Amino acid sequence: AAPIRHEAENATIVQGAVESNHAGFSGTGFVNGENVAGPYVEWTVNAPAAGTATLALRYANGTTANRPSDISVNGTLVADDRAFAPTGAWSTWTTSTLTATLQAGPNKIRATASATGGNPNWDFLDV
Ligand code: GCU
Repeated sequence: AAPIRHEAENATIVQGAVESNHAGFSGTGFVNGENVAGPYVEWTVNAPAAGTATLALRYANGTTANRPSDISVNGTLVADDRAFAPTGAWSTWTTSTLTATLQAGPNKIRATASATGGNPNWDFLDV
């Protein structure tokens, strides 16, 4: 099936804000988390059946340093300190893809900044 888009601005946002001052985002904005470890965005993704799914996270990182993030599914860590490398500018967005096992029905997919720089800016999660 075609992926379904889950905009970051519609997700649960902890220690972050929806902003729109850097062009190129999808939807009405993106999420800028605080520049500390711990802020997260959590998407609720409904899966028609249990099984492996492709998670495509679109982000921007206008710094020159990696912005690692812990990716969890229903509270289980699936990617520890996943690297979200610099994209060159805050208005340059790229998609980072991983696979994870989802359960049938709603799944909580969370991206938590794991270093003091915070998360990259999040645009959306396609599943
Ligand atoms: C800048 C940029 C923000 C970004 C922040 C950061 O302030 O304008 O969009 O989130 O840097 O370093 O995270």
